[in-house]
Amino acid sequence: MILSVTTRPHSQAESRIIDPDVARASTLPSRFYTESSLMALEKEKIFARTWQIVGHAAQVAKIGDYFTTQSADEPLVITRDTNGELRGFYNVCRHRAGPPAQGCGSRKLFRCLYHGWTYSLEGKLLNAPEMEGTADFRPADFALRPVRCEEWGGLIFVNLDDDAEPLTQALRELPQQAEKFGLEKMRLFARREYVMECDWKTYIDNFLEGYHLPSVHPSLNRELDYSRYSTELFERHSFQGSPIRGPENEATVDRRYAQSKGDLSAEYFWIFPNWMLNCYPDN
Ligand code: FES
Repeated sequence: MILSVTTRPHSQAESRIIDPDVARASTLPSRFYTESSLMALEKEKIFARTWQIVGHAAQVAKIGDYFTTQSADEPLVITRDTNGELRGFYNVCRHRAGPPAQGCGSRKLFRCLYHGWTYSLEGKLLNAPEMEGTADFRPADFALRPVRCEEWGGLIFVNLDDDAEPLTQALRELPQQAEKFGLEKMRLFARREYVMECDWKTYIDNFLEGYHLPSVHPSLNRELDYSRYSTELFERHSFQGSPIRGPENEATVDRRYAQSKGDLSAEYFWIFPNWMLNCYPDN
């Protein structure tokens, strides 16, 4: 595989050959983790062109429910329209860019707090105070700009690329592989945010190795059969997994899955570029 990157104006594209033989693996050069120009490039080339998870269907269960979010630094609002359809818009007023929606909740329409333009749940401009008599002003020209927004397994994703392939197509084999965990039946329990003081790839690099399991996660290591930990690569995602130990490990106390008969597994999916899905038998 050849990775080709141009980071500096007028510079030649820099190519790196990625050896498919993992025995010869090494990390990317350190500057790939530190240069701010690369981060800007990653936003444009990667994060603005891939499906990004932004929330859970429970946050927009009813007509008029909405929440605001961001993807690749773009402010967005996700809502359930009057026909019950999931919709996403740039949360940018077409007048002077004030946010039409604030926070989250439920509304019949969105009202920009700057000068009071109002929009329907379908994004149509409904009212623009004092614009009467303005030459050639047609409200139909000033609808909120839509963003691609789709749902899978109760999870909501956006893609800033209007030409992106549909979400379930982009996920390739994943829906079938994760089917046994019944994601669509799961409920939103809590949302937690952690700020990582590192480049996003550093965190992914950590996720993509089970090597640290015995040292960093001793209680999880009691549950998993580390000797059978495996990794499998697919076109758009990777799979890591391990059987959960059976009763032979009951001598060690405080096991969460002490009832396991050796028929359960923990499965970890990483979906390019930055989504990780950790599946255990009960969560
Ligand atoms: Fe929204 Fe003016 S910026 S009404």
